[in-house]
Amino acid sequence: MAAPTGPEPSPDCSICTRLHDFIAAWRVKEPGWHNAPVPTFLPAGGVASVQLLVVGLAPGLRGANRTGRPFTGDYAGDLLYNTLNEFGFSRGTFAARPDDGLELIDTAITNAVRCVPPENKPVGGEISNCRRFLTPTIAQFANLRAIVTLGTIAHQSTVRAFGQPVAKHPFSHGGQSDIGNVRIFSSYHCSRYNTNTGRLTTEMFKGVFGEVSSYLNGIAG
Ligand code: URA
Repeated sequence: MAAPTGPEPSPDCSICTRLHDFIAAWRVKEPGWHNAPVPTFLPAGGVASVQLLVVGLAPGLRGANRTGRPFTGDYAGDLLYNTLNEFGFSRGTFAARPDDGLELIDTAITNAVRCVPPENKPVGGEISNCRRFLTPTIAQFANLRAIVTLGTIAHQSTVRAFGQPVAKHPFSHGGQSDIGNVRIFSSYHCSRYNTNTGRLTTEMFKGVFGEVSSYLNGIAG
């Protein structure tokens, strides 16, 4: 029987050979970088306080793979953290460094794939391999009520982590889907490509978090 898996891969995880080799090469080129699976960013209140989980795709090479904190150090993080602050899901000043003092409030941020993939593109086998960490990551949050999935890959991997068919919970920007007690809000990924091409505007992205905020406030009564 396979050993039970916790929510975080080991720092030297070698389940995906391609990603392991890619990181090994960057460890040689940039020894000062994180260059390892990027762990879930948790709020100061700990696992039990988490009501909202944001699921991204995978660490960016010069972003989370360099700094070790999801969405920290690349363009996608600027929009994400500004939006979280605006809706009260974080506090402090985001300065794109893991020691900037920014704190999440009842919110956690993770990635569907924990290791940086070449050209930001994980392959299907890597996405399903890494679900063995996404599933227990979600399961550990006993008070989870909402998930924001960023892009189709994060959305589908999250739906599969719940053991549900993706056809029953299709991705669409602004879409919402209930699985048990948890409402999934899907959004186009806040990547530079999506914002530069106009596929995702700041207003569209903030609109999704506005819906999440109303939903969570409604539950709180
Ligand atoms: N950084 C992350 O951690 N995840 C993404 O999906 C993009 C950038």
